[in-house]
Amino acid sequence: MDKSSIHGMWSSRLAFILAATGSAVGLGNIWRFPYMASDNGGGAFVLIYLSCILFAGLPILMAEILLGRNGRTSPVNALTQAAEQSGRSRFWTLPGWMGMVAGVLILSFYSVVAGWTLYYAWLYVLQLFGGAPIADPGATFGALLGDAGLLTFWHAIFMIMTVVVVAFGVEKGLERAVKFLMPALLAMLLVLLGYGATTGNLGQAASFLFVPDFSAISGEVYLRAMGQAFFSLSLGMCAMMTYGAYLPKGISVGRVGLIVALSDTGVALLAGMAIFPIVIQFAIEPSGGGPGMIFTALPLAFDQMGAIFGLVFFALLAVAAWTSSISLLEPTTAFLVERTRLSRKTAAIGMAALTWVVGLVSVLSFNHWSHIRPFGLDLMTLIERIANDLMLPLGGLLIAIFAGWRLSGRISREELADLPDWLYRTWLWVVRVVAPVAVTFVFWQALRPIVRQLMGG
Ligand code: TRP
Repeated sequence: MDKSSIHGMWSSRLAFILAATGSAVGLGNIWRFPYMASDNGGGAFVLIYLSCILFAGLPILMAEILLGRNGRTSPVNALTQAAEQSGRSRFWTLPGWMGMVAGVLILSFYSVVAGWTLYYAWLYVLQLFGGAPIADPGATFGALLGDAGLLTFWHAIFMIMTVVVVAFGVEKGLERAVKFLMPALLAMLLVLLGYGATTGNLGQAASFLFVPDFSAISGEVYLRAMGQAFFSLSLGMCAMMTYGAYLPKGISVGRVGLIVALSDTGVALLAGMAIFPIVIQFAIEPSGGGPGMIFTALPLAFDQMGAIFGLVFFALLAVAAWTSSISLLEPTTAFLVERTRLSRKTAAIGMAALTWVVGLVSVLSFNHWSHIRPFGLDLMTLIERIANDLMLPLGGLLIAIFAGWRLSGRISREELADLPDWLYRTWLWVVRVVAPVAVTFVFWQALRPIVRQLMGG
């Protein structure tokens, strides 16, 4: 008989798909993907990004979900169980521990950026009630970043929103929040795409995003693209493993994994196609957009479309961030509930408070601490790079090796029971060889210039 998790279970296949897609689709797709593509050479970046999704993202996503479902517990405990069942060492719980650290780091800056979207939604509310329009988006964005108090306030609001959902638990909190709002976000992106089409710049946007300029590829571009792939799919820190723990048996891991990966990638590409025509229209360079890209370009379009569009867009983006942030807080909360005597509520509030404090580093990195630049990076970017570009792919690599080489084949075969033999064997081969080679290759590409520099060559 199927055992269920003490944290609750998804009520249906659709509920899981919505929750996992809700986790995957977020700021990563709409805020980060466009400016990553913009900063890293457009088409070449996108091509590497898509390869990372296919060769590492999808197979590791399946591995995370199946490991979670096999254990029915938070990542560290699920990995402990899987290692014991397979007669392997405790070493393989490492991705679970590392994932909790990565989760805190990622949520810390994620919440700050989500706070920007809340603030922008608020600006459009004010505008609808007669407030001043955003006349100079660059100045508005600059003023926000310069104001540590304002940033801290909206960061706190977003963290409270996140903790409320997690405190209510799987069925009551997580599921309800995602059911209506994801389709609404998709509709809003299509409206923006329609607007983009009226500018006549769709073709130019498409060629920037999809025609690769191979001379733009460097070790750094490889690393950024892979980090973005893991970040966008919520992979490498066991968030999907946690969601998998609440997935009823009998639902196909392969199929839901594929649906989540396709929707996430689709939304990122759609967001890119919606945003670049607007960027081009207002004579902003498509390359070098930086983290402020959507906050400085889109208000120019909303100025013509009407403030209500600005409100709906930024409100929905905040919701998309919300359905993602809960998956960053859930793994540690579930872990604390299993390992300590804390209630779900106390555990969630404690972790959120800790993460909120860590987020103050990102808040200050734009103003009082903007002069602190280790390795030439501001502190928020540094945290992002360490978590997204290093910890996530490393976690993913360990999960792939464990699932492919160490986990008892009986477990993975049973969890993927619906797959025909050839597909199961393809998956196994990909997590054993292709994904680890891909991740190692990217790390090597990124490391090479550094090694060369150290060798003085
Ligand atoms: N994938 C989300 C986004 O694209 C962010 C996110 C949620 C995430 N959970 C995660 C990233 C776990 C890494 C790991 O916005």
